[in-house]
Amino acid sequence: MKRENGLDVLIIGGGMITQDLILPSVYHLQRLGRVRKVTVCALNSAPLRALKDSAELKQAFPGQDFDPLPALTQPPAKMFPDLYRQALARLAPRQVVIVAVPDQFHYEIIKTALQHHQHVLCVKPLVLKYDHAHEIEQLARDRGLFVGVEYHKRFDRRALMARRHYALGHFGQFAMGEARMIEPYYYRHSNFQNWFTCDQTDPFVYVGCHYVDLVYFITGLRPAALSVSGFKGRFPNGKQAFLWANGRVRFENGALLTVTDGLGYPDAAAGSNDQGLLMYCEGNDACGMIEHIDDDRGVRHSYLDNIGCAGSKYNYVSPDFYRLVPWEGPGFKPTGYGYDSVAANLETMSRIETQTAALPEKRALPRRRTLIAEVDRQGLIATPANSFINELVVEAARLSIVTDGAWVDISYTPRPRVTPRS
Ligand SMILES: NC(=O)c1ccc[n+]([C@@H]2O[C@H](COP(=O)([O-])OP(=O)(O)OC[C@H]3O[C@@H](n4cnc5c(N)ncnc54)[C@H](O)[C@@H]3O)[C@@H](O)[C@H]2O)c1
Repeated sequence: MKRENGLDVLIIGGGMITQDLILPSVYHLQRLGRVRKVTVCALNSAPLRALKDSAELKQAFPGQDFDPLPALTQPPAKMFPDLYRQALARLAPRQVVIVAVPDQFHYEIIKTALQHHQHVLCVKPLVLKYDHAHEIEQLARDRGLFVGVEYHKRFDRRALMARRHYALGHFGQFAMGEARMIEPYYYRHSNFQNWFTCDQTDPFVYVGCHYVDLVYFITGLRPAALSVSGFKGRFPNGKQAFLWANGRVRFENGALLTVTDGLGYPDAAAGSNDQGLLMYCEGNDACGMIEHIDDDRGVRHSYLDNIGCAGSKYNYVSPDFYRLVPWEGPGFKPTGYGYDSVAANLETMSRIETQTAALPEKRALPRRRTLIAEVDRQGLIATPANSFINELVVEAARLSIVTDGAWVDISYTPRPRVTPRS
C-alpha cells in the first residue's frame, strides 16, 4: 500500500453516511496512495466503535484503520461536542476535512475548518442559509482553499448524459416535472430521532434538495419560487418531525417541478427506497422527456439470510450509487457515483496542492484561486459558487414548510435572496 503521498483526512461525524460511503471511499483512496492518515471524530465513542467493528469494512479494507476521536476507551455515552476543534488544530494546514454531521452543524464546523486552513468536503446540504454559503465561499477563496459539496447524484452517469443532451438542445426546454425520494422507514429508529426535528429540518431539505440540484445541474435553470408543505408525526423517542414533505418549485423560465419526500418507504418493500425523476420539455412542435427510474435499476437479489436493506431478503439492488466489488487488489473496492463524487473532490484538493507545492506563497495563492475558479465554472463538482441555488432553496423551503406551504420567492439581483410572498 502506497502511503507516502496524498493528504491526511479528518472525517468529522461517524454516522450513517460515514459508514455507508465516506469512510470506504477514503480507505480506497488511501490504498491508491492519494490519502495518508485517516482520523474520524464523532460526538461520542459509540459510533466509532461501530465503525471499527464493522465486519464489512474489515473484509473490504484488510489492514486499514483510522484514529478515533474520542478514544474508544471513553464511555460510549460521554459527549465531546468540541473535540473536532482540537482535531482541526492538530491537523497540518491544507489537508482534507470531510464534514458529515447533521445539517445544522455544517456552517460552524466548515468555518472552523477553513480558519484552520483546511480544504473541505461537506455532505449535502452545504449550509441552511444563502448568506452562510456566500460567507464560506469568500472565506475559502481568500485563503485559496477548496470547498466541495457532496451532491453525488451529479456523478450518476444518467445525470451526466442528460446534462450533455440538454445542453445540445436534444430535449427542448424543461417545462413540467416530478421527483420523489422516500427514504426507508427504519431511519425513524436511528440517530435521526435526535436531530431530524420540525425546528431543524424536513424531508424536502434532507433529500428533495438532491433532485432540485439535479434539475439545475441538467438544465442550468435557477429556481425562482417554491412552496413546501409537510406532514408531521413522532419518532419512537416522542420528538416531533416532518415525516413527509411535498414541494413545488418554479424555475426562472416558468417550469414547475413537484418534489415528494419522506422517511417512510416500507421496510418490508424490496426497493430499499423509492426515488426517481421525470421531466417533460417543450421543443419545436414536439416534446422531449427525461425519465430516471432510480429505485429499480434492473438488478434483483434474493439472499438466504436477512442481509438486505432493513434486514430484508429480497431486494432491488442498485449497482450505481455505492457497492463493494472485487477488484485487482486486496479486499473489495467501492464503486458507483457515490465513490466517484468523493474521489473527484479529494483529487481536486490533491491537484490544487500538487500544482502549487513548488511555488512561493505569493504565486501559489493566485494559482490556487484560478484552479478553484475553473472547478466553479465547470459546474460538475458542486461548490459554494456554483451550487448556492441549493442554499436559497433550503432557506426558502424552511420558511414555507413552517407556514404550511406559503410561497417564497427567490431572486438573484441585486443580490441572491429569498422573500416570503405577501
Ligand atoms: N444522500 C446523501 O447525500 C446523504 C445521505 C445521508 C446523510 N447525508 C448527510 O450527512 C449528514 C449526516 O447524516 P448521517 O445520516 O450520517 O447522520 P447520523 O445521525 O447517522 O450521524 C451523525 C454523526 O455526526 C456526529 N456528530 C454530531 N455532532 C458532532 C460534533 N459536534 N462533533 C463530531 N461529530 C458530531 C455524530 O456523532 C454522528 O456520528 C447530514 O448532513 C445528512 O444530510 C447525506
